[in-house]
Amino acid sequence: MCGIVGYIGKKDAQEVLLEGLKRLEYRGYDSSGIALMKDKEDLSEKKQFFLKVIKAVGKVMCLEEKLSKEKLSSHIGIAHTRWATHGKPSEKNAHPHQDDGGYVAIVHNGIIENYKELKEKLEKRGHTFVSETDSEVIAQCIGDKMKTKSFEEAFFLTLKELRGAYAVVAVSPSDPEKILAARFSSPLVLGVGKEEYILASDVSALVEYTDKVVYIEDNEAVLLTPQGYSLRTFSNRAKGERKIETLEWSSDQAKKEGFAHYMLKEIFQQPHALTDTMRGRILLEEGMVRLGGLSSVEKKLRNITKIVLVGCGTARCASLVGEYMIEEYAGISVEVEYAHEFRYKKSLLDKKTAVIVLSQSGETADTLASVREAKRKGVLTLGIVNVVGSTIARETDAGIYNHAGPEIAVASTKAFTSQLIVLALLTVYLGRQRGMSLVMGKRILREIQTLPRKIQSILDDAKKIKKVAEKYSAFESMFFLGRKYNYPVALEGSIKLKEISYIHAEGLATGELKHGPIAMIDKNFPSFFLALNDSVYEKSVTGIEEVKARSGKTIALVTKGDKKVSKMVDDVLEIPKTLEMLTPILSVIPLQLFSYYIASKRNLDVDKPRNLAKSVTVE
Ligand code: M6R
Repeated sequence: MCGIVGYIGKKDAQEVLLEGLKRLEYRGYDSSGIALMKDKEDLSEKKQFFLKVIKAVGKVMCLEEKLSKEKLSSHIGIAHTRWATHGKPSEKNAHPHQDDGGYVAIVHNGIIENYKELKEKLEKRGHTFVSETDSEVIAQCIGDKMKTKSFEEAFFLTLKELRGAYAVVAVSPSDPEKILAARFSSPLVLGVGKEEYILASDVSALVEYTDKVVYIEDNEAVLLTPQGYSLRTFSNRAKGERKIETLEWSSDQAKKEGFAHYMLKEIFQQPHALTDTMRGRILLEEGMVRLGGLSSVEKKLRNITKIVLVGCGTARCASLVGEYMIEEYAGISVEVEYAHEFRYKKSLLDKKTAVIVLSQSGETADTLASVREAKRKGVLTLGIVNVVGSTIARETDAGIYNHAGPEIAVASTKAFTSQLIVLALLTVYLGRQRGMSLVMGKRILREIQTLPRKIQSILDDAKKIKKVAEKYSAFESMFFLGRKYNYPVALEGSIKLKEISYIHAEGLATGELKHGPIAMIDKNFPSFFLALNDSVYEKSVTGIEEVKARSGKTIALVTKGDKKVSKMVDDVLEIPKTLEMLTPILSVIPLQLFSYYIASKRNLDVDKPRNLAKSVTVE
């Protein structure tokens, strides 16, 4: 997930693009860059146009600082703020990318799945690549074709070769008064001003200049000139007029795309984010998973007999789900450790052990220390990390990125579910290296593919979850209870509630209730049960009865169609059916919303809860 902006009009392009980048910085902030078309009046007699490309590593302010030393008057340009997916943050990997012939500059948001094939082909044709990104192939592809074809022809022919997801915007000095852009599965919106047009990944970059927008549809391209815009098919045929819509968002709302908080936006982003996590990784026919980041350690992983999963907070909850998944389906013994405990523990690790650390930020001090400790002991270390190029991603021997896009809210939501998708994919990968059958591999993968749609159906029910949450917003304590796969979800539910609503919450394995915690139950102490229709359903029912017998209020999350539990509890919420090992990816969604709505009802600062930081980089 990156931020892209394109401008054509009478204003100073550099200023508009920089302002747009600042507003899009939440989408990615590891590097940024700008390409400006040199204005006609500045040209020498040769009448040649050229592009000035300037890039910087770090936040947009680093690019701004560079540009302040080199102001270039221009009215056409493109810009990008990056959230690394392929290749670490560096100037070479930052956008805009150019082809080696100097024909074109592009900015891209998304993932080009077939970039390796395209790159090989272009290298054979004599092109030299300078970055480690997938995006550079788009520029090289267009440039290669421009040796014999126009900018427009080359751009549209290139679209036909790309597989994956993209919003791409291109400019060329050979056709200097034109911007070409296309969208396939990554967002793109066009702002229509007075004799000016701004393209951006979302409206936050353009609300400052206009409230009139045209949403570019999937499989649609757009051609901009100073005189106007034209919507095109991917075969460069003109499409009919589209209604220009009027935005009703303030610029602050726009950054959150209309959501009241980043946390809510990130909860609702999950269907999309998880699609990105699995993109290009599922080989359904082979019942297998492609995990490029593990290719260097594939043989070593075949001989592993023990895995230690390490993380903190939400990442540890995900690890606990991973323990159930890997033990049941890959048959490898798994231990889960808090990173802050693991680093000081005398762990029994040998050459057949792999230590897998989970970290959204890739910077958590305790988790990083665990990687270093495991490496000191000569053990294979792997990372499941969301932030590309982060310290943990760099220091582990190999790893898998979440590709969930930046998570801004302190409360982790999409990072958790994307960690679970990665763990499920890893389970199939390890399982298929061992005894898992083709049929089982296919079954799990097919079901994983349905999850974004199922999550969407839960989100569509948010109003109901809000109503239930608000009923419980005045209580001062709560239990979350689950068994087996949903025990870690109960733990995660309790972290969510306490960190943003400051209500005391405890996550428990349902079976533990009668060994002490039940003493707390009375009419002022509600319990939230995860009572799904799985292998431990009946055992969950017993727990509910125990609480009811002590006058405790009960809420239950059940599987759609449930008859029994729904009749027993005070309030009930539902999720669609899925494989038991995948239920946590669905069951956590109502818990995220439940906590969110309680915190907002209590008028708390949901995105920045007291005493907490997004990334804990101290011990
Ligand atoms: O960046 P990490 O995943 O390593 O962070 C670990 C925890 O600090 C984090 O998961 C924390 O528990 C969440 N922000 C809670 O929502």
